[in-house]
Amino acid sequence: MTKLIINADTTRGTIDRNIYGHFAEHLGRCIYEGIWVGEDSPIPNTEGMRNDVIDALKNLQIPVLRWPGGCFADAYNWKDGVGPKEQRKRMVNVHWGGVVENNHFGTHEFLRFCELIGAEPYISGNVGSGTVREMSEWVDYMTFNGQSPMADWRKENGREEPWKLKYFGVGNENWGCGGDMRPEYYADLYRNYASYVRSYGDHKIFKIACGASDADYHWTEVLMRQAARYMDGISLHYYTLPTGTWADKGSSTEFDQEEWFTTFKKTFFMDELIERHDAIMTQYDPEKRIALIVDEWGTWYNVEPGTNPGFLYQQNTMRDAIVAGINLNIFHKHCDRVKMANIAQIINVLQAVILTEGASMILTPTYHVLRMYSVHQDAKLIDISFTSPQYVMNGEAIDQISVSASINLANTLHVSLCNLHHSDETEVHFDIRGREASKVSGTVLTTETLQAHNTFDQPEAVAPAPFTNFRYEDGNLIVQLPARSVVVLAVE
Ligand code: AHR
Repeated sequence: MTKLIINADTTRGTIDRNIYGHFAEHLGRCIYEGIWVGEDSPIPNTEGMRNDVIDALKNLQIPVLRWPGGCFADAYNWKDGVGPKEQRKRMVNVHWGGVVENNHFGTHEFLRFCELIGAEPYISGNVGSGTVREMSEWVDYMTFNGQSPMADWRKENGREEPWKLKYFGVGNENWGCGGDMRPEYYADLYRNYASYVRSYGDHKIFKIACGASDADYHWTEVLMRQAARYMDGISLHYYTLPTGTWADKGSSTEFDQEEWFTTFKKTFFMDELIERHDAIMTQYDPEKRIALIVDEWGTWYNVEPGTNPGFLYQQNTMRDAIVAGINLNIFHKHCDRVKMANIAQIINVLQAVILTEGASMILTPTYHVLRMYSVHQDAKLIDISFTSPQYVMNGEAIDQISVSASINLANTLHVSLCNLHHSDETEVHFDIRGREASKVSGTVLTTETLQAHNTFDQPEAVAPAPFTNFRYEDGNLIVQLPARSVVVLAVE
C-alpha cells in the first residue's frame, strides 16, 4: 500500500507542452513510407503525406517535431531537398542502411507536414559536414520576410510567406556521428554557427546547442562555461537499453521478467541524469533561462529479425508503455529545467508511436500512453509526496510505482500512475489536500502478458480502457493499480 499525498494548492511550475515532442529522422521507414508516400501513391494522402498517419498524429496533439535527424542531420544539405522533385539530387544515406535518399521529402514537405498535424517544427542544422553559410542560408530561406537570394528562391519554389520556425538545433551528437568533436572545439563552433542563425524582425529563433550523451557531464560543463550566453537550450540524449550493451540490446518482444525489470531500472537513470546535468547548468545559469532539451529518448532494442539492421525497426509492448510513463513523469518533475523532450522516433523506428506496413497502420502501446498523458500538457505541476513500495529482483530494488500530478486550465487534477511490477497489483491511498475531490474518472492501459503488443493482425491487442478500480473509504480515494499498468485519473 502507498499513501499518496497530493498538495493540490501547491504548484511546482508548468509542464511545457513541448515535453510531449517527437522526432522524425531520414532513417529506415520513418519518413519514406511512414510519412511520405508521394502524391501518386494508392495510399490516401494529402500532398504526398499519408492521411491515416496525419489523423493519428493530430489526435495525439503533438506540440513539436524534430527533423531531419539525428545523425542524418549532419550529413544533410538542405539545398538538395528543395525545388522540383524530379530535379532533386539523390544521395546515399550513409548513416542508415546505405539506401538511396531521393530528397523528395525536404524543407517544404516537412514544414507542411507540421502544419497538417498541428506541430511546431524543430530543425536540426548541419555542423558536422555543412558550412556556416549553408546553415545561415537555410534559416534565411525559411524565415526571412524580405528580399534576399534565399527568400526569393523560397518564393520561386512556391512558398510566398516565410514560415514561423522557432526551434533550431545547431548540430546533433557532435561528440559522435556529428563530427567526433571535443566539447572545447564544438563550443567554439557552436558560437560561430549560432551567430549566423539570425532572427529576422521580431521573430526570435530559439537556438539549441548539441548537449551531452548520457552521463558525459564534462560536455555540459564545457558547453555551459564557453557558450551559455549564446544558447537558449542545450540537448541531452539518453536511450533505455535493457541489457546495457550496444552489441546485444535484447529483443523488443522476447524478454523475461529480469529484462522487464532492468529496462525500468535503466529508465529511472533519466532522473539522475537530469538532476546532475541541471546542477552543472545551474552553476552558470541559476535563473534557469537555458532549457534542457531531451531531444532523443526511448527504448532501443535489437532490430526485428529479418529487417535491415540500419533501419532500427522494433516492436513496442506494454514494457515500452511503462517506459514512456516513467520518463514523462520524470520530465514533469524537472519541468523547471526540462522544456522539451522528443521521443525517438515517431514512426517505424525505435520507440515509435505508429508502425506501418504498406497501406496498414497500427498504434503502439506507447502511442496510447502519450495520448492518455496529453492532459498534462501546459498544466501546472502539483506537489506530491509518497514512498513507493519496492520492486525487488535478484537483490536489486527499484520503485514499484511512478506518479505525477498536474492541474490544467479547466481546474481538473490529473494523476498519472505506473505500476511496474510484472505480477503484483498495488493499492494507492490518496490524501488530496487543498481541494475537493468528489468526482473521479480514469483510463488504464494494462495487459495479460509482459510481451503483449499490437500487430497488423491484432491492432487492438493493447488498447486503453475506462478505469473503474477505485473506491472511497472515509471520504478518501483508494485506487487499485493492476500489475503492469499505466493509469491516468481525472479528479474534479
Ligand atoms: O535515433 C537514432 C540515432 O540515435 C540518431 O540518429 C542519433 O542522434 C542517435 O545516436
